[in-house]
Amino acid sequence: MSAEPIVLQTRGLTLSFGGLHVLSGLDFTMHRGERHAVIGPNGAGKSTFVALVSGLLRPNAGQVLLEGRDVTRATANERVAAGLVRTFQINTLFATLSPLQSVVLALCQRDGVARPSLRAIVHCRPQIEEGAALLERFGLLDDAHLPTQTLPYGRQRVLEVVLAYALRPRVLLLDEPAAGLTTAQGHALFEQVATLTEGTAVLFIEHDMNLVFGYAQRVSVFAGGSVLASGTPDEMRSHEGVQKAYLGH
Ligand SMILES: Nc1ncnc2c1ncn2[C@@H]1O[C@H](COP(=O)(O)OP(=O)(O)O)[C@@H](O)[C@H]1O
Ligand SMILES: [Mg+2]
Repeated sequence: MSAEPIVLQTRGLTLSFGGLHVLSGLDFTMHRGERHAVIGPNGAGKSTFVALVSGLLRPNAGQVLLEGRDVTRATANERVAAGLVRTFQINTLFATLSPLQSVVLALCQRDGVARPSLRAIVHCRPQIEEGAALLERFGLLDDAHLPTQTLPYGRQRVLEVVLAYALRPRVLLLDEPAAGLTTAQGHALFEQVATLTEGTAVLFIEHDMNLVFGYAQRVSVFAGGSVLASGTPDEMRSHEGVQKAYLGH
């Protein structure tokens, strides 16, 4: 087990849609600064789990604890303020903005600056400097002033991670961040995710086992609405139940 304190925990998380039991008493633990992959077959409940943790859905039973604090009843916005942040696909609004405009708006939100109009963000000096530094770090500085919708898809996906990371999360939730990317783009994205500072724990759902075993420090395997097994990548690779249920050996 990790010596780091627990940053995110769920206890007995349960959710049904009508008669369909999606999560059945799911217990999950993640430690500070960890990169933690969640894997499992399609329909295992992985995305539903992220929706429950981020507050988009409410469980029928069970708890979500962030650094020991019960946030089960907190709204999604309250969880963001507490440091629990998920990525969102860039929507039509952000698609017309430049990466720099989007990241400055995110930083103003984080810093509690009253939401500035697009014209007024030129006055947000500290946020512009920090935003430019973030874009540079993630290889997006050359694209900083272009409409986001004109960027290659791979870079739009990187920007989604940057916008979430700009909020300085304690826990960053990534649901299939490499979906739709080429193998090389997926590795490039995870190379960047791997540089995120120790203060941010990253939970990611991923199907590509090269990315899972290449970048995760811990792996949890979901099956049938609960955690089948959780451990180091090596432990999961050699776990008989995991091989049978998921890895197809
Ligand atoms: N809003 C919803 N209404 C009804 N069923 C849903 C809803 N969202 C997900 N499900 C069902 O819950 C199960 C788990 O889905 P999901 O969490 O998306 O799985 P995963 O991300 O592991 O592939 C699936 O059977 C899916 O059809
Ligand atoms: Mg999913």
